[in-house]
Amino acid sequence: MKIKKILVAIGVLGLVSSLFASEAEKIFDAKCSMCHIKTFPKDSSKLVAPPIMGVMRHVKMTYPKKEYAVKFIVDYVQNPTKEKAICKPQKIARFGLMPSQKGNISEQELEEVAKWLFDNFPPANFRGFGMQNHRGMQK
Ligand code: HEC
Repeated sequence: MKIKKILVAIGVLGLVSSLFASEAEKIFDAKCSMCHIKTFPKDSSKLVAPPIMGVMRHVKMTYPKKEYAVKFIVDYVQNPTKEKAICKPQKIARFGLMPSQKGNISEQELEEVAKWLFDNFPPANFRGFGMQNHRGMQK
């Protein structure tokens, strides 16, 4: 009996977390993906911002722990500055500093998106744009 209850609880938890995940992805699609594409760029000359797999690779290199990575993203998206940026300086030179998204996305939404990004990017098969794979530091 007990085991059954535990199994049900696990099932419910799994469902809730997958609902959250897709909710976060929807928010990302609506509020971030017009600038940050989710796929490997076919033609990088058309980009207006770094693809999210590259962004997250750099975020994780600087903040391997989820808690700190999420904090960083939540803060940066609302208050971007050159000093805080973890991407390479040539990205900012090319794309300009990211415009603050304050007002476009609530802090709560941003937190969900940041967690989802940490869990899903870069994808397991991503090896960097011509460099070694830095994934798998910590989850
Ligand atoms: C109008 C285009 C635009 C939108 C919308 C946008 N970004 Fe960005 N973002 C950029 C550009 C350009 C950069 C690269 C320059 C920089 O780092 O500031 C960037 C950089 C970043 C970085 C790396 C910051 C660093 O340290 O360099 C993160 C993380 C990020 N964006 C997350 C997000 C999230 C999450 C959203 C959606 C809520 C979002 N962005 C929406 C343009 C955008």
